[in-house]
Amino acid sequence: MIDVDLDQVAVPLRWPKLFGREAPTDVEIGSGKGKFLNELATANPERNLLAVERAAKYHRLCCERAARRGLTNVRLLRTTAEDFLFRLLAETSVANFYVLFPDPWPKKRHHKRRFFKPETVAALSRALEPGGRLLVKSDHQDYAEIIAEVLGNTPDLDPIDSAAAFAGLPLTGFEHKYRIEGREIHSFALQKPK
Ligand SMILES: C[S@@+](CC[C@H](N)C(=O)[O-])C[C@H]1O[C@@H](n2cnc3c(N)ncnc32)[C@H](O)[C@@H]1O
Repeated sequence: MIDVDLDQVAVPLRWPKLFGREAPTDVEIGSGKGKFLNELATANPERNLLAVERAAKYHRLCCERAARRGLTNVRLLRTTAEDFLFRLLAETSVANFYVLFPDPWPKKRHHKRRFFKPETVAALSRALEPGGRLLVKSDHQDYAEIIAEVLGNTPDLDPIDSAAAFAGLPLTGFEHKYRIEGREIHSFALQKPK
């Protein structure tokens, strides 16, 4: 079942139960309409791909697109990133995290809603396997500076070359649009020591 029923799953999540097999498991947080996730899953049938998306509309669209492609290595959770990180996720279980164009919440009074803060990055770090990676992109200059600061203060993750880390990966829906507009895109890649 591509669309995971959160009322039926045991917590913390175990990939063999969720995907029906042992395989390296990558997670995209805020997958939107699922362009990146579904293209990545199509190109890497040997990997498990899990998406977390809060918006029902996008979640549904992503499920439909995965089903249309006949993907068996995709699972989609409709919940918040916070519920996923702090309630559902097991430690040292994720090979790669992708957080691509997270909502920038530009108004000052909304900054507290931003995803990137020390406690969420600490949770991402705990959930990564040794050698696992966190890959991030943002088009928003101000938020990118905050992201750089939070990631820079995460001693458990080492920065790696982001161009190399993103090489060969699909573009997201937002990135496709932003490239056409010529917007600057900020990329970050970190790795948990092996
Ligand atoms: C700017 S869009 C980017 C979508 C996609 N990553 C892309 O690049 O095309 C941000 C996405 O994150 C989702 N989102 C925002 N806050 C979230 C949260 N707390 N938990 C899960 N998803 C969230 C939004 O619904 C939206 O689909």
